[in-house]
Amino acid sequence: MDESKIQDIEIGLFLDALYQRYDYDFRNYAKASLKRRVLGLAAAERLSVAELIPLVLRREDYLAEVIAQLSVPVSDMYRDPPVFKALRETVLPLLQTYPRINVWQAGCATGEEVYSLAIMLEEEGLLERTQIYATDINDSALHKAEDGIFPVHNLAGFEKNYKNAGGKAEFADYYVANADFFRIYKRLRQKIVFAHHNLVSDGVFCEVQLILCRNVLIYFNDELQKRVLELFYNSLVRGGFLCLGTRESLRSIEEQRLFAPHQADCMIFHKNGVVT
Ligand SMILES: C[S@@+](CC[C@H](N)C(=O)[O-])C[C@H]1O[C@@H](n2cnc3c(N)ncnc32)[C@H](O)[C@@H]1O
Repeated sequence: MDESKIQDIEIGLFLDALYQRYDYDFRNYAKASLKRRVLGLAAAERLSVAELIPLVLRREDYLAEVIAQLSVPVSDMYRDPPVFKALRETVLPLLQTYPRINVWQAGCATGEEVYSLAIMLEEEGLLERTQIYATDINDSALHKAEDGIFPVHNLAGFEKNYKNAGGKAEFADYYVANADFFRIYKRLRQKIVFAHHNLVSDGVFCEVQLILCRNVLIYFNDELQKRVLELFYNSLVRGGFLCLGTRESLRSIEEQRLFAPHQADCMIFHKNGVVT
């Protein structure tokens, strides 16, 4: 048997150990990228994947490292500006009709996207009556997101994306900065509830009008994507909106017919009324 196949067996055993010990289930994540990341963990420890198993079973402090490596918590402010522009122009006007609005960002990583959303809601006069929930499985990323502190060297890119996404003021209106870091203002931070939620194993989070889950489903296999799309379907009000990442596949969404395109080029969908 070649080395790669042996590694696949070891990875399966490692994921089983992680699941049985801590209830974190990565067994239905997309194989190729998960394999790269597990091999990265092993390389960092200078161990084989099999040798990681006793480590993950016996050293609780190693879990945070494993979750950090396997979960890819990278993000950006107004990542894909045309998508945020489309949300602003074609979704937020429809949310105006609700007296109370709930928004769920699933897989928020370090929070850049959820603050982009909060700023946009404020500029459209909707933030006051909106409750935003931002969830992830990576607790260390969630803590960073909750702090709302980002390196100043990212500002030029963030400002550019803000403008390209249809920002109506200046990005500088939303933070206070020192030489190295800037912090999003409290009035925006306090509109967001950050919480641990696992899309693999947890149930409906709350009833919402809009779900953003971008660049998360790409890490899941078809079976898991279907489960998560069902979860989103059950979490949305009738006609509610779902926004996925631009690199996400349309296959499971088309197969299930739970959602219909609202603006397909920006991966924005709305919940289908009747599914046959
Ligand atoms: C690449 S980031 C995407 C961040 C942001 N949505 C964006 O597009 O900029 C993927 C995020 O999904 C989270 N994630 C992975 N598996 C998850 C799961 N089972 N439940 C909830 N979040 C998960 C990761 O922890 C990570 O923060």
